[in-house]
Amino acid sequence: MYPHNNQPTAAALVVTLFLPLFSLVLLTLACGQKTDDQNATEKQDKAGAEAQEQSSPKPAPATGAGQARPTAPTRTPGVSGERLGLGTPVGPEVYAAWDIDVMPDGRGLPPGSGTAKKGAKLYKKYCVACHGATGKEGPMDKLVGGIGSLATASPLQTVGSYWPYATTLFDYLRRSMPMQAPQTLSNDEIYSLTGYVLFLNEIVGEDEVMNSTSVAAVKMPNRNGFITADSRPDTANDACMNDC
Ligand code: HEC
Repeated sequence: MYPHNNQPTAAALVVTLFLPLFSLVLLTLACGQKTDDQNATEKQDKAGAEAQEQSSPKPAPATGAGQARPTAPTRTPGVSGERLGLGTPVGPEVYAAWDIDVMPDGRGLPPGSGTAKKGAKLYKKYCVACHGATGKEGPMDKLVGGIGSLATASPLQTVGSYWPYATTLFDYLRRSMPMQAPQTLSNDEIYSLTGYVLFLNEIVGEDEVMNSTSVAAVKMPNRNGFITADSRPDTANDACMNDC
């Protein structure tokens, strides 16, 4: 029984004394190694810093970012963007030149007026080459005809047959026609041309005055041909706002 008891004790000694000692030696060696590595890194860092120090006093290249910037243009104090030297303040006149959109209900239509009669002359001068003598010939888009054809086997989409609002015609002509020189005609001329394209489509009379009120009031043949917004609510239930 006793010798048996002694054997485990010796094994326990090896575990409790030798193993910790052995790991301590390993640890010390590893630390020594790490220190060497660190030294190497430090050396490298130092060399890099020295190299940089040497290169930085070099004169900047003749062209490029290192050169002195040109002085920023002088600006009115207090204008935003001034600190960064960016932009130019936009006055009402500049803004108005860009703000040319016309809503279907006529919002945005400018002052001015015209008639189809006056528009006929302008059309001959500026539009006929591309849209034809009566607006039906082309070679570009047909502007006239096709009313009632949309639901047939050969639908013809024109201002007369397809467009739901005459206000859009004014907007479109003012911003984009004549195609090779858009935004060169006056508002009066655009009102007259709007009248003339509507007249060719037999929607307004030759002498009917076209202005911001009358253009908005024109009833286009296809006004009700578009599907309006879905009338169903977004959700089937009322939104809960309190004590939900
Ligand atoms: C140089 C040729 C050219 C001239 C000149 C020209 N247009 Fe156009 N026009 C076009 C082209 C091309 C389109 C089609 C543009 C597109 O679909 O993006 C077009 C489209 C249109 C449309 C829209 C047709 C539609 O149903 O989509 C109208 C309206 C129109 N022009 C009217 C005029 C009027 C009025 C004038 C004269 C002030 C004029 N155009 C002068 C080439 C021209």
